Amino acid sequence: MTPASLAAIFDALPDPALVVRADAWSAGRRVIMANTAARDMFRIIEAQPMIAQVIRRPDLLDLVEAALTGAAGGEVEWETAGEVQDRRLRALVRPLPAQDDGGRLTLVIVRDETDARRNERMRADFLANASHELKTPLASLAGFIETLRGHAKDDAGAREKFLGIMATQVERMVRLVGDLMSLSRIELNEHIPPTGEVDLLASARDVAETLSPIATAADVTIKVDGDAPAAVVGDALQILQVLQNLVENAVKHSAPSGVVRVEVETGLAQADITAARDPAAASRSLLLPSAVSGARFQVVRVINDGPGIPREYLPRLTERFYRAPGQKSGDTTGTGLGLAIVKHIINRHHGGLFVESAEGRGATFTAYFPQV
Ligand SMILES: Nc1ncnc2c1ncn2[C@@H]1O[C@H](COP(=O)(O)OP(=O)(O)OP(=O)(O)O)[C@@H](O)[C@H]1O
Ligand SMILES: [Mg+2]
Repeated sequence: MTPASLAAIFDALPDPALVVRADAWSAGRRVIMANTAARDMFRIIEAQPMIAQVIRRPDLLDLVEAALTGAAGGEVEWETAGEVQDRRLRALVRPLPAQDDGGRLTLVIVRDETDARRNERMRADFLANASHELKTPLASLAGFIETLRGHAKDDAGAREKFLGIMATQVERMVRLVGDLMSLSRIELNEHIPPTGEVDLLASARDVAETLSPIATAADVTIKVDGDAPAAVVGDALQILQVLQNLVENAVKHSAPSGVVRVEVETGLAQADITAARDPAAASRSLLLPSAVSGARFQVVRVINDGPGIPREYLPRLTERFYRAPGQKSGDTTGTGLGLAIVKHIINRHHGGLFVESAEGRGATFTAYFPQV
């Protein structure tokens, strides 16, 4: 390979890379090579600047100096303010073989580890949350078992009552584990586009029927509105799950004797979907459709009366395990995974999710999918 193609390879490396040279007759250390990524990151304009003008971190300069004078090299990590978020960087310093003319060389490579760090933290948070959610019902089950073995042993009334509570806790854990499993399944195939064709209106009617016992028990009526079928490319079961989670939430947070409306519309533009319906309401896009989605969408709005959601909680609704504070007391049925699942499914379908709510006037969740 020619020196020119080696230089081209060096220049094409995606991580910033520098070669620093030291000569016996000078205390100055020059950057004799810097690839495009390094020139961008360190704003290098000169041809062969001094390393001290390029890198301002004393710990990194010390490491470079040590590598130039015979040490093995090493690594330095630091954080720096980025345009959008703080960036986590790591520099690797490696001595290179000396030149024929006695010049000593060292390679410096900088890695951006911001995303890896963030993913690591998210995974740790997720595990902590999931185990915490399981620990609470497990601890209460253990407590009841102890009571049933001990002083409640011969008390038939207490036994019935405790077994009832235990059954509820077990149900909750089964739901939680089921939701976690469906979330991980959805994430695993999130990058595989769905292939079937689904009518949102028919799906909405299905869900209204499935949930009517729950609605009746909560004294809520579900009404589906729509003039025409709204076909989308989608996975029928996943679309049902989206609607079911949204309608379930609407029923759960509905005003007493309330009505949950499910409205299906076809062929809307993004601007029509996110236009304010209630000028006093706060709104938020929880997911935007991807660039490949085209200009027209099939839309389902799930609308309920009720307390609504304060503005400051809107951005966090699709986070795993997130439940807005100040819910109806005694409501411990939710795990906060419903909207996370909704978001991942819609993302797989290249659609969008939008929420609008005014305190005291209920909430509207709008899911939309590219028109076929
Ligand atoms: N229609 C609504 N009205 C008011 N608040 C809502 C509505 N829908 C969702 N929320 C709020 O968003 C939070 C997250 O909803 P999500 O569906 O993810 O979780 P959940 O309903 O609490 O639990 P799960 O769906 O896992 O049973 C809810 O806890 C609630 O605070
Ligand atoms: Mg829910």
